[in-house]
Amino acid sequence: METVNVKASKCYDILIGKGLLDNCGELSAKAVKARKAAIVTDDNVDRYYGERAVKSFEKAGFTVVKFVFPHGEASKSHSVLLKLYDFLAENGFTRSDILIALGGGVVGDLTGFAAATYMRGIEFIQIPTTVLSQVDSSVGGKTAVDISGGKNLVGAFHQPSLVICDTDTLDTLTPEFFADGMAEVVKYGMIRSKELFDLLCEQDIKSNMPDIIKRCVSIKAQVVANDEFDRGERALLNFGHTLGHAIEKHYNFSGITHGYAVAIGMSVFTHIAESKGICHAGTSAKLDKLLEKCALPCTTDIDMNILYKYSLGDKKRSSSGIDIIICSDIGESKVDKMTIDEYAAFLGVL
Ligand code: GLY
Repeated sequence: METVNVKASKCYDILIGKGLLDNCGELSAKAVKARKAAIVTDDNVDRYYGERAVKSFEKAGFTVVKFVFPHGEASKSHSVLLKLYDFLAENGFTRSDILIALGGGVVGDLTGFAAATYMRGIEFIQIPTTVLSQVDSSVGGKTAVDISGGKNLVGAFHQPSLVICDTDTLDTLTPEFFADGMAEVVKYGMIRSKELFDLLCEQDIKSNMPDIIKRCVSIKAQVVANDEFDRGERALLNFGHTLGHAIEKHYNFSGITHGYAVAIGMSVFTHIAESKGICHAGTSAKLDKLLEKCALPCTTDIDMNILYKYSLGDKKRSSSGIDIIICSDIGESKVDKMTIDEYAAFLGVL
């Protein structure tokens, strides 16, 4: 088992290894005082891993209840959140107890937000079971639910007490779901680590997942330690996301998944940056080759004017402009604060 420590306003460990799920209770008992736990998960994850998690927590001396909701982004809603609050109240949960998020990004974000707000904040542990949640969303304390105005628009920063990444849980992902999460992995290589990028290009990816996840979360831990509340450096984690979110919005958040859209966003921005001479020649070809290896797309037919319009609704937009992440080379990135006119010129739209 590998351990990465996050030094944010609260310090906690990320544990990475094979077969950790069957010991998740014991590992949690070492990290927290609580002995009453609500495992929050979706119906898909529950089918595969729910009972194993319950057994492990009970074996470690926890009293356990389980809250299961339907899988999918539609559940990251205030209606499911309210049901979860009621469930916790009915089961007598107090601030001495703990929530366990068992699942992917939707489960982690929803459970984290419930933990941030129930009784003004109780502890929670993340047990992410997808590539995306293991390398990105379970670490760093961003929690949220969606509202009709947009994804993640209501949220809070609330750090978990522990993150347990059992890499064996990735074995039950479909190839498409696995590929989807790989976009975030490629992102870490692009923004911070040529070594990770080269490893992804040269080695078999699946058999190196524990090492790959450790490298990704080490980068994320460092970025979060430097800028927990997303006022500067943390924006680098949005490489590919400004255009990616615009593509997701174009498809009404249902025709394309997050990772596929982010992959296109990273590639399109890198091609533009290279054509303008602000990115080392050959970078976009290397990126596209890796995206292809990961079974991810790099182009879109959507009119750039439409994507420009949608991307102006991004959370990274401020009244004075928009923060754009540019990679000048593999492993080298910076936040470029553009005015709206500069951004239009960058994309080549009117
Ligand atoms: N997923 C981006 C962040 O945590 O800041």
